[in-house]
Amino acid sequence: MAGEFLTDVKTLRERARKHIENGAVTENYKADREQVIKILNEALATEIVCVLRYKRHYYMATGIHAQAVAPEFLEHANEEQAHADLIATRIVQLGGEPNFAPQGLADRSHSEYVPGTDLIDMIKEDLVAERIAIDSYAEMIRFIGDTDPTTRRMLEGILAMEEEHADDLRNLIETLVPEEKK
Ligand SMILES: [Fe+2]
Ligand SMILES: [Fe+2]
Repeated sequence: MAGEFLTDVKTLRERARKHIENGAVTENYKADREQVIKILNEALATEIVCVLRYKRHYYMATGIHAQAVAPEFLEHANEEQAHADLIATRIVQLGGEPNFAPQGLADRSHSEYVPGTDLIDMIKEDLVAERIAIDSYAEMIRFIGDTDPTTRRMLEGILAMEEEHADDLRNLIETLVPEEKK
């Protein structure tokens, strides 16, 4: 019978009244909350490191193509910052604390902070970092499965944007690097 699995209204209401200090996290929350907060903090560190790397690249971009590439670095930096904000917000909703501590930041992050030498080197390092982010977000999404749809949806949105970033960077390399030097 359709709808049989649904909890009756009375039980739903009673449950919601208990443990109201848990805010958005109800008894029905299916994921391992501590574990989700832990992986979200790793994602937060990854995003912060990406902001820092893109900012460095934005300010250090030189050469004849810098005018075309630097705005792309800045745009990515701002989008990574937006991801960090989404993730921090979700950590708090889940009753955790976002870890913004500079100590250990590079170790918590999945991607690396590489200053880069010239413009092409910077773009390549950014592409490597995006590919790491793509893999780790895909893994997080698989880990969460259907246990926490809100976190999952957020991660899927971020993943789609990291894929766009990687594609932008690949296009930049295509445009800037002559065929024989790739
Ligand atoms: Fe990001
Ligand atoms: Fe990205």
